[in-house]
Amino acid sequence: MVNSGLTVSSGAYKIMRLLPGQVAQFRQINAIFAEAFGDADSYSSHPPGDAYLQSLLQKTHVIALEAFDGDAVVAGLVAHVLEKFEQERSEIYIYDLAVSEANRRKGLARALIAELKKIAQAIGAWVIYVQADKGDADLPARRLYESMGVREDVFHYDIAVK
Ligand SMILES: CC(C)(COP(=O)(O)OP(=O)(O)OC[C@H]1O[C@@H](n2cnc3c(N)ncnc32)[C@H](O)[C@@H]1OP(=O)(O)O)[C@@H](O)C(=O)NCCC(=O)NCCS
Repeated sequence: MVNSGLTVSSGAYKIMRLLPGQVAQFRQINAIFAEAFGDADSYSSHPPGDAYLQSLLQKTHVIALEAFDGDAVVAGLVAHVLEKFEQERSEIYIYDLAVSEANRRKGLARALIAELKKIAQAIGAWVIYVQADKGDADLPARRLYESMGVREDVFHYDIAVK
């Protein structure tokens, strides 16, 4: 899997896959997530160190996409490639996706997912999947995903480690 770090244009915006070394940009994506999800506790109260973020960026199965307008980061998407075992194939899971409030409804989320699809095709992944909550806060996300994919109703369980 090659991370070309290619930058593409979407209207006035540029979309880039982060390359190893772009730790500061990864922090900017986390800042977008903290604000968009209203979850500073998870996204900014215990920030990872530079070495940790750098190690993530060196992993080919970690895909971090950033959209920016000039120098300003306006959206981010982080996804993981999961290598399967029942067949020689992989799936891509979108962990987080957010667009800053002032830049919504301009096609940025769709453009980020379109970019992810190109990467998925390049590595031979067979599906991209994502989860959304049932509450009002995730309504825009559900509308977005409904416009791009097929919904499956599942139960999600968190199993405590200890
Ligand atoms: C969900 C989110 C990422 C969408 O980003 P966006 O850049 O505004 O989305 P796009 O402009 O690409 O919209 C694409 C389509 O999604 C749907 N959509 C997006 N926002 C919507 C909204 N508020 N209401 C209804 N439909 C919406 C529409 O079908 C839209 O197409 P259209 O504009 O041609 O009607 C953004 O609202 C956001 O960051 N929300 C907070 C974080 C979040 O919920 N992330 C997802 C967690 S699962």
